[in-house]
Amino acid sequence: MNKVSIPKSFRVKSFGCQMNVYDGERMAELLGAQGMDAAGEGEDADLVVLNTCHIREKAAEKVYSDIGRLRREDGSSPLIAVAGCVAQAEGEEIMKRAKDVRMVVGPQAYHRLPEMIGKASAGERVTDTDMPAEAKFGALPARRKRAPSAFLTVQEGCDKFCTYCVVPYTRGAEISRPFSDLIDEAQKLVEQGAREITLLGQNVNAWTGEDAKGRDIGLDGLVRELAKLPDLARVRYTTSHPNDMTDALIAAHSEVDKLMPYLHLPVQAGSDPILAAMNRSHTAESYIRLIERVREARPDIAISGDFIVGFPGETDADFEATMQMVDTIRYAAAFSFKYSPRPGTPAATMDDQIAVEVMDERLQRLQAAITRDQLAFNRASVGKTCQVLVERKGRREGQWLGKTPWLQSAHFTGDYAVGDLVEVELLEAGPNSLSARVC
Ligand code: SAH
Ligand code: SF4
Ligand code: F3S
Repeated sequence: MNKVSIPKSFRVKSFGCQMNVYDGERMAELLGAQGMDAAGEGEDADLVVLNTCHIREKAAEKVYSDIGRLRREDGSSPLIAVAGCVAQAEGEEIMKRAKDVRMVVGPQAYHRLPEMIGKASAGERVTDTDMPAEAKFGALPARRKRAPSAFLTVQEGCDKFCTYCVVPYTRGAEISRPFSDLIDEAQKLVEQGAREITLLGQNVNAWTGEDAKGRDIGLDGLVRELAKLPDLARVRYTTSHPNDMTDALIAAHSEVDKLMPYLHLPVQAGSDPILAAMNRSHTAESYIRLIERVREARPDIAISGDFIVGFPGETDADFEATMQMVDTIRYAAAFSFKYSPRPGTPAATMDDQIAVEVMDERLQRLQAAITRDQLAFNRASVGKTCQVLVERKGRREGQWLGKTPWLQSAHFTGDYAVGDLVEVELLEAGPNSLSARVC
């Protein structure tokens, strides 16, 4: 057996969604609390955690090539842990296929990493893909991350079982974290300098809990409570499911100033038969109505979405319905993907899988329409004044980059610091960013 000494330095690489990034931050904090140091850019690390994503094929393949690349010139490897959703879905296979991997840890078990590192350092190969009933979050150290914009996972898992999706299998059943834990964590983040908090969950708007007085509340209630933190300027949440978009949450968009005018509400497709085959439990029409109501509550809101092209059985007419949906909604931003059959999901074995050339062509058309609307949305913002949260320095001298309330990237020059909220006028628009002038 290949004996390795206890690691002194570590690196965590995250590949997935924002929740995966959040998990990566928490793992880094956990390893830091064990006395290990984060390796700097380009520095060799004793321990590397690959925090993986399983949502589409390429994501999983990337993990194997990354493992190969971690081998050093002298033939040795760091202590490698594969974490995240690929670990959960393919733990055994990883252990068989990649001999350099010494730990496999699922997204609900990473609070046990320190124990696992002890065993792996003594030469064992350890797998933990349990979904333990004990609270992972309670076992993690307090937040230490310093950033003007921070993530906070409030809800995990998914009970929706869309037929194409691995998340219900890799993340398990829906759970909501308790209200008081979330307020505590948010307070910690604000103390460390967060001006903006993005609440995360695979179905974030399904969050439920009890407030300090024992009353049942939903995500709108949580947002309202967080908005009371004096030094917190902005609240966002993602990702929502259309079926959990309550009237109260819609109302919060018109009533809570700190709730930013942005809603990521994936629709996936514009055709009802495809939506039914996807098990989305909403129709194209009900989605459009919902967006209308959100826009009534907050007319300037930026709507974003996700699309899948080439779901099994998608005809030309079905795809045209998706294009029609884009034309109707006019998204401020949207992500679109080629359907990727995921092992173990119902759609993977459905008849009429779509040829890749057809998917490529559809994706191109869809993305062109989305880019057109993104640019139109940004152009329509020109001339507006708004606050920008300064996130980092730009490439040019004196240039800063930040986000508008509508989550657009804006760049401007001046004498500022990360975390400042700066009043600007938006000047010129591209599809992915805007230039601005400080007012
Ligand atoms: N919980 C969120 C996000 C899930 S994953 C939601 O329900 O919307 C993020 C996006 O990945 C999905 O919205 C979907 O567009 C895409 N996706 C998920 N599974 C996929 C698959 N098998 N092939 C292609 N895209 C997929
Ligand atoms: Fe996946 Fe559907 Fe759940 Fe979103 S709602 S995580 S797409 S199963
Ligand atoms: Fe990927 Fe898992 Fe997130 S599969 S998208 S890292 S929930």
